Amino acid sequence: MITLDLHRSDDFVASHLREGLENRVVAAHRAVIDKSGAGSEWIGWRDLLATPNDALLEEISRQGQEIRERADVLVCVGIGGSYLGADAVIGALSPYFPSTKEQAQGEVSLFESAPSSQQTPEVLFAGHHLSGRYLSELLAYLEGKSVYVNMISKSGTTLEPGIAFRVLRDWMEDRFEDCDRRIIATTDAERGALRTLATEKGYRTHIIPDDVGGRFSVLTPVGLLPIAAAGFDIRSLFYGAVAMMKEIDTRDDHPALAYASRRYALHESGYSTEVLSVFEPALSGLGGWWQQLFGESEGKEHKGLFPATCLFSTDLHSLGQYLQEGRRNVTETFLTLKDDRGHLAVPEWDSDSDGSTADGLSFVAGKSFSDVAQAALHGTMDAHVQGGVPVQHLEIDRLDENALGGLIYFFEHVVAIGGYLLGINPFDQPGVEAYKRAMYERLGR
Ligand code: PA5
Repeated sequence: MITLDLHRSDDFVASHLREGLENRVVAAHRAVIDKSGAGSEWIGWRDLLATPNDALLEEISRQGQEIRERADVLVCVGIGGSYLGADAVIGALSPYFPSTKEQAQGEVSLFESAPSSQQTPEVLFAGHHLSGRYLSELLAYLEGKSVYVNMISKSGTTLEPGIAFRVLRDWMEDRFEDCDRRIIATTDAERGALRTLATEKGYRTHIIPDDVGGRFSVLTPVGLLPIAAAGFDIRSLFYGAVAMMKEIDTRDDHPALAYASRRYALHESGYSTEVLSVFEPALSGLGGWWQQLFGESEGKEHKGLFPATCLFSTDLHSLGQYLQEGRRNVTETFLTLKDDRGHLAVPEWDSDSDGSTADGLSFVAGKSFSDVAQAALHGTMDAHVQGGVPVQHLEIDRLDENALGGLIYFFEHVVAIGGYLLGINPFDQPGVEAYKRAMYERLGR
């Protein structure tokens, strides 16, 4: 379940902006549902939830299981939407430190869904930047290990993953007789260089549906295979999104509409940046996925909120200064976890009884970390509002596959409505091509 609290940003929206907005939001919501808005040929991410392909989920789970049994490392090669979703979900569900399931589900873990103690490959990423140093170190790290590679590219021609894959494929061919079985390609059904190569080599393949753009593809094989290989329940993830879609589709008063409406009203009130702030480090990868989803969808025609992320308390000691007192163009959305499952308490020291501890922290002795974190959350929200930052608060009640699936769909629906309110096509990304053209020109293409 997702709860939304908007009251801390109420005073930052001019009243005239509220007039008629509700009707416009509902109209945008309906345009997403009935596919009557701009770019609706790209709304396949809803269709795949409306008619779940259980056989595909089963096949991907089986392949994930094979990778878990046979591989020490799965290297996922992809950029943008071809890796951020998997990184977000795996990062959110994995224990911070290696542990068995039993330990991870013990009293102090927040991870409902830690992978079982059965061998789980490390899932590493490549092709998401151009660091030759990273790739060289990765190859050195892979030496002597059992490796699988999942090459993920819808176009099959994106430079960064393309050249990383050249290196990794050569490396795999030199080391594994069954290399062609260890490389799995996730790409377009028919088009593109990767499809051609996969057919030639006999790689196993998965299809990225034609009508699903990269940033909406986490619930296709793009995200599902790496997530399954990491040991998580992709069926539960997928059906969490299905349930959220049904919930949102049937309610014009759903928090997704209220959040989309408030973001738009703040945009129209002159705010130019939205910061997604999290306190739980496990949620920071999700911030990266959110940033791509909102940045690539809304940043067009000189419109849109620039999406930035903060991990607190870390960033309270750096960007917190800007948020509190810098330029007043920032709106902030806190994403928190209701049940952090932590019972760890601040130890009492002998000298606490007379209040004379050297660290001056007697006042928190005996309190749980969870209580301290709640005080930090509410204190930060209050301080930022007082400093002139409109604050929204989204909360999920638990961190498991099902809840994450719901949250993924929630944000997808919000950004689709947001794009329509701004009057832009939320499903294309013409701006991404500009740097590619300039780069290719310099490289002599
Ligand atoms: O959201 C998008 O469409 C992009 O971020 C793409 O995912 C990214 O550019 C990678 O493209 P491709 O999968 O074609 O290699």
